[in-house]
Amino acid sequence: MKKPLFILLSLLILISACTRVNNIKSDSVDTIEIVNDNHSYANIDEIKTTHLNLELDVNFENKTIYGVARHEMSDHNCDTAIFDIKGLEIKKVTLGTTKEKETNYVIGKNDELLGQPLKIAIEPKTKYINIYYQTTSETEALDWLSPELTAGKKHPFMYTQGQAILTRSWIPLQDSPMNRITYSADVTVPPSLLAVMSASNETTKNNEGKYHFEMKQKIPAYLIALAVGDMVYNSLSEKCGVYSEPELSNACKNEFSDIPRMLSVAEKLYGAYRWEQFDIVILPYSFPFGGMENPRLTFANPTLIAGDKSLVSVIAHELAHSWSGNLVTNATWDDFWLNEGFTVYFENRIMEDVFGKDVANILAITEFQELEVALNDIENGNHPEDSQLKLSLTGRNPDEGMTDIAYVKGAFFLRTIEKQVGRKKFDEFLKNYFDKHAFETITTEAFLSYIENELFKPNNITFNTKQWIYEPGIPDNCIKITSERLNEMSLLADRINNGESIFEGKNKNLQRGDKITQEWQTFIRELSPNITSEQMMEIDEQLKFSKEGNPAIQSDWFQLAVKVGNKSVRPYMSDYLIKIGRRWYIESIYIALKESKDPNDLIWAREVFKKAEANYHYVSKSTIKKLLD
Ligand code: BES
Ligand code: ZN
Repeated sequence: MKKPLFILLSLLILISACTRVNNIKSDSVDTIEIVNDNHSYANIDEIKTTHLNLELDVNFENKTIYGVARHEMSDHNCDTAIFDIKGLEIKKVTLGTTKEKETNYVIGKNDELLGQPLKIAIEPKTKYINIYYQTTSETEALDWLSPELTAGKKHPFMYTQGQAILTRSWIPLQDSPMNRITYSADVTVPPSLLAVMSASNETTKNNEGKYHFEMKQKIPAYLIALAVGDMVYNSLSEKCGVYSEPELSNACKNEFSDIPRMLSVAEKLYGAYRWEQFDIVILPYSFPFGGMENPRLTFANPTLIAGDKSLVSVIAHELAHSWSGNLVTNATWDDFWLNEGFTVYFENRIMEDVFGKDVANILAITEFQELEVALNDIENGNHPEDSQLKLSLTGRNPDEGMTDIAYVKGAFFLRTIEKQVGRKKFDEFLKNYFDKHAFETITTEAFLSYIENELFKPNNITFNTKQWIYEPGIPDNCIKITSERLNEMSLLADRINNGESIFEGKNKNLQRGDKITQEWQTFIRELSPNITSEQMMEIDEQLKFSKEGNPAIQSDWFQLAVKVGNKSVRPYMSDYLIKIGRRWYIESIYIALKESKDPNDLIWAREVFKKAEANYHYVSKSTIKKLLD
């Protein structure tokens, strides 16, 4: 595998000129920074795409995209340009614009994880490389859904998921976050459907089924995204709106009405929103994530439509990525915490502003509970070093870095710094950080040197940053957050654990709607696996966790049911696992089944998975398959 080297040009020039390091950005390191992206074959140190133009024909009959990827390249001096592909059929490659000329190419050996290098013969003056291709059934990014799996049940649906390294499975390109490109696209779809992308979008269908898109800001390849389905647009404000199937319009308008406010809060905190429009699109239930921060158009899971706005923090999260992740991007997947840790921190700040400190604390504590579970798993797993913020994922799927370490340990690291330096200074620092690194990528090391020079040194502060980043576990100085409301939920759970009935006296008419989702999650998580099935049913009778669940509560509830050995909720559980493809929700249920004392539970899990897998996106399917095998 060819490993590209990315050398900070400014430093090279500097060194050859033998001058002191004083006229470059203060965060630039005083040693040469050599960064490898071990998850891409592309030779971006030699030649890079600057603009990508896509011509795509989306064919639902044979579940194939027929495409031409026209790459405009940087100045270079090479005879080979290397792109990433995975499960794509390459038809031909040409060079030039008006007069295209076919050129030779070689496709290298297939790696199960990285796919193949596509090595194209070029000339030093080559500016345009056009790759004619089509997707195949091996294409991992795409999810093709039959009408039954949509809300309307009349039209098919298709969407892509690029992060982390799946974009190469639907577009031949240099699939490394270290390179940023602009893109445009011409997409043809069946006229009954609307196509939307992480770019400028139309709000209504047209009779030809032809759509043109422009993304004028430079983005990393993993943020190129497309969704096609029977969708309508509902505006929420001048800059915000929701695309969804028409059947979900009203529910969406209500659930997501706070988005415009979130946007203005976010801008007040960390500076102007740089992407003009912030829309979201509600995908079918198979979508493997709660949300995905595709620029201008967040992709969202319909499980967010809880009816009581209790899961909109996911939207605050994806919105926050417009700064942390999309504007300032992790250079490699080993630096993933720079995307997610910052985003969880920022998300919580938005939530605090819109819903109050109480709610924000409850969210942070709920996340910390999840971190403790994840930490325990990691410490007892094959890669205990994964509890460091800086990861080393060479030879591994970057997906393995998608744990609560990056998300929650990352966020608590920043909260701990905030507490030590004070919110005012920290906010100023973050705002400048986003501004100074806008539309760039950054490594953990460059961040460390930046914070040292811009925040710690000027304020005479010492902070155990290295321990947080390069050592496992949670450092002792991690701030502790408490919540009276959650303490009460723990007490309530304790009473059940002690065999008392709680639905008496002031709790006689306790209802689901009396507490927010995360309060119930704490309640469920604090219940002992030693309670009886009857106790669980008594709770279920009153609070309707199994039946009228909000999917976040249900996921925790079903895990408990497995631990308790309660089989009566199984019909709800199998419906849930067959309908929902959001990975974190279903994975933890499958894990509970796998780890159960009762060997029949694993057999049951495999049976349900057999029925469910066709409804999952590749990302969830492959995770669960690996788990159950
Ligand atoms: N960017 C992530 C999703 C992702 C990460 C996809 C890594 C592929 C590889 C997205 O922003 C995310 O974090 N989603 C979370 C939201 C939650 C933490 C609020 C999710 O889907 O649960
Ligand atoms: Zn995220």
